[in-house]
Amino acid sequence: MARIFSGIQPTGDKHIGNYLGAIRHWVTSQSDHECLYSIVDLHSITVTVEPTALRDATLSLATLLFAAGLDPKQSTLFAQSHVSEHMELAWYLNCTATMGELRRMTQFKDKSGGQESVSVGLFDYPVLQAADVLLYQSDLVPVGEDQRQHLELMRDIALRFNGRYGETFVVPQAQIPTAGARIVDLQEPTKKMSTTGGTEQGTLLLLDTPARLRKKVMSAVTDSDGIVRADAENKPGITGLLLLLSAIEDVPVQTLEARYDGRGYGDFKQDVADAVVTLLEPLQTRYAELAADPGEVVRLLNVGATSARSLAVPTVELVRERIGFAPRG
Ligand code: TRP
Repeated sequence: MARIFSGIQPTGDKHIGNYLGAIRHWVTSQSDHECLYSIVDLHSITVTVEPTALRDATLSLATLLFAAGLDPKQSTLFAQSHVSEHMELAWYLNCTATMGELRRMTQFKDKSGGQESVSVGLFDYPVLQAADVLLYQSDLVPVGEDQRQHLELMRDIALRFNGRYGETFVVPQAQIPTAGARIVDLQEPTKKMSTTGGTEQGTLLLLDTPARLRKKVMSAVTDSDGIVRADAENKPGITGLLLLLSAIEDVPVQTLEARYDGRGYGDFKQDVADAVVTLLEPLQTRYAELAADPGEVVRLLNVGATSARSLAVPTVELVRERIGFAPRG
């Protein structure tokens, strides 16, 4: 059975784009893969974050992921900082990756541009990410398009290490969803939905109340020609809503265009709002139940970390031996 690893940062409220683009697939993969999912809190400290905010966000995201259907009996969910082998392997890989490679990373250029002070950690972010995946000898890494370059680097690092020290790491493959999964901001539909780059009113948060979700959908920007048809250039608002409904119902946009032929935007938006609320209601109910017992979430994360560690330790032991560190006796 192929092994999957993926990571999600605990910072920033999660929205329906995160759910449809990643979380939902993490849940379905559980039945036919061996899955490890990590809340990558070590990555989050590459920029300044308040300690209480980090702690709250990590526990809240764990609660959300369990509520979304990650099943501790089927897969492993853990906090990255609970498995210190991630940091140890990152050091070894720091000595394999080069400055030139890291300098070419577009995400680093984007995130560091215009900043007064940039941490060494932000520069090194992709090496820690490589360690995350290689530590578990993972085969597949489901990620968004924006992570393609980091995945290529990870493969290069694995191949170089294997070449220098002998076969050590599985060289992982990216699993990038094909087009269609693009969920856009409802107020500025030329932008991706995002809690950092988008608008508040145009972002459907997973924990927004049903009333708030409805309001956001009903006030989504459209156009004045009144036809429910996809046309990214001239009708980005309607196109965004069509893609959203298409992703939720898992039906092609063309089917939706036919369904709404001759009907107005009001009807269409109403249906999108219903679909969003129906999709998220079970998750929200489960979240409320789990959040009432925070000790249970801490316990489940601990179970996850113990199981992750049991796979991570043999890898670092092998790596130490390959590099040539003296035996500990
Ligand atoms: N960098 C990824 C993102 O921003 C998160 C991440 C960290 C990750 N480590 C990972 C994703 C390992 C896949 C595998 O989305």
